[in-house]
Amino acid sequence: GEVFLNGQYVPYAEARIPVEDRGFLFGDGVYEVVKIYRGRPFRLREHLARLQRSAREILLELPDVDWEGVVDRLVRGGGLADRDATVYIEVSRGSGPRAHHFPPAGTPPTVLALAREFPGVPPEYRERGAAAITHPDLRWARCDIKSVNLLPNVLAKEKAVRAGAYEAILVRDGVAIEGSSSNFFAVLDGAVVTHPEGPHILSGITRAVVLGLARDLGYRVVEAPIRVSDLGRASELFVTSTTAEVMPIVSVDGNPVGAGRPGPVAASLLEAFMRLV
Ligand code: PDD
Repeated sequence: GEVFLNGQYVPYAEARIPVEDRGFLFGDGVYEVVKIYRGRPFRLREHLARLQRSAREILLELPDVDWEGVVDRLVRGGGLADRDATVYIEVSRGSGPRAHHFPPAGTPPTVLALAREFPGVPPEYRERGAAAITHPDLRWARCDIKSVNLLPNVLAKEKAVRAGAYEAILVRDGVAIEGSSSNFFAVLDGAVVTHPEGPHILSGITRAVVLGLARDLGYRVVEAPIRVSDLGRASELFVTSTTAEVMPIVSVDGNPVGAGRPGPVAASLLEAFMRLV
């Protein structure tokens, strides 16, 4: 298939990024992951608005790109018109001799987009739920920016995988902030609770959709910090993301959550979510 690179469509094997690209040297860039359901992007406008915001927050000017057209061409050109897929978009601050400060004005950013077939999360996670571990949140103070600096996320996720778990729940000052690549929810006293928006979480597109669905379904919704010390009394835990959708978490650090099975709140939210896609 082809990738979109700096305004052109290039065969995957021929796409080249300069060795001094700032995305590679510094992690100096921002990104998005968009889910494609049977050829159609889900909430593309929201993802593009967040990309725009992330870029603005790191003082990176996005070039004009017809993203709808790009996504459509990558999906169709990749033979994914009736498949589920993801589109990855990254914009870095371009390339130039290595120096921390910004390159000269007029240096073009590097703009990449590529589509990949994505069969979805393993069905056994859906049916039996997934395990999670807790892990210190070692990230910076602007987690609201979707930057490609993902080292703390990568290390936390790897620790989870090595422990046989699906996700690492990042903990800061005794609060379960979010997952390494997902937002975190608890059902406490019947209410659907998730961390409020702000500098410590990425404001997930899926999070917003799920909060809306929770309200529609009549659940009480609370955006407040979730203390790790309260996890033991949660009847359900789940995480949300573009790729995981609504994923029940049935154990944390080896301790079962509620009955140790996916619960009714997560199930109803997932069912409502799948009707939207
Ligand atoms: N991750 N929090 C973090 C730290 C994330 O990396 C993500 C998404 C989310 C959920 O956001 P959304 O619902 O908009 O996907 C929350 C993507 C999927 C990734 O890095 O692959």
